[in-house]
Amino acid sequence: MSSTDLAARPIGIFDSGIGGLTVARAVNQVLPHERLVYFGDTAHLPYGDKSTAAIQAYAVKICDLLLKQQCKVILIACNSASAAAYELVREYVGSKARVLNVIDPIVAHVGQQYAGRTVGLIGTKQTVNSNVYRKKIDDLDAQVELRSLATPLLAPMIEEGFFDNSIAENVIETYLTNPALDGIEALVLACTHYPLIKSQIADFYQERVAVLDASDVVARHVQQYLDHHGLAARPGSAAPAHHFYVSDFTRSFEESTRIFFGQEVHLEHYPLWE
Ligand code: DGL
Repeated sequence: MSSTDLAARPIGIFDSGIGGLTVARAVNQVLPHERLVYFGDTAHLPYGDKSTAAIQAYAVKICDLLLKQQCKVILIACNSASAAAYELVREYVGSKARVLNVIDPIVAHVGQQYAGRTVGLIGTKQTVNSNVYRKKIDDLDAQVELRSLATPLLAPMIEEGFFDNSIAENVIETYLTNPALDGIEALVLACTHYPLIKSQIADFYQERVAVLDASDVVARHVQQYLDHHGLAARPGSAAPAHHFYVSDFTRSFEESTRIFFGQEVHLEHYPLWE
């Protein structure tokens, strides 16, 4: 196949639900010519409390769908799935598509910008307890001290639309005053949902701590990756037609796409598990 044919194929993005649309949105902003095929596994949401084995089984099945859709790249937008299933998915997909995750770009960024410093991280239980960030950051040998805290209430809170009110402020403050995060100079938002509370977190720290929004870092990484491998789509005459699939459809999921993607998008029900 010619590289032009390959470049014209879509980017597949998957997540446990619609929260990964924050990553899709960032990718779409940086790469407006790329066609996206998004899959949200709303039937199994949340992944943050699931076992590694369960997430791996879901991820493999989702990849079958994204490969059927001819995706050139599969981006695991979910931190929990990136932590639990990236290596397995990469092996499973083999040479049929390139597989990217949301952890490696932020780890590289931290290594470059925060060598010798103390960095905090918040995410789901799966992401934090997997210790994947710690292992990858330690492998850089950049003397970064990572202080992580599982913040499981944040994702459901944001999904319910509680992110810019006093309840959210209280929950955020309770987590961020945890001694586990004492002394940090930057905080990695290691969850699809957290870009939506970035400004509340920044307000809490009053510029004492840099807040690292992984979705922006990941989108720039995808752009560099496509350029480097000659996989970037050529500009077309019309805007690319994205597809957004979910394994379980409710109207409330569709309404929530506005929060995560910045505009409401049409969700197509793809019952992968029936
Ligand atoms: N997408 C998940 C993540 O980034 C958060 C929601 C969930 O637990 O499924 O870790």
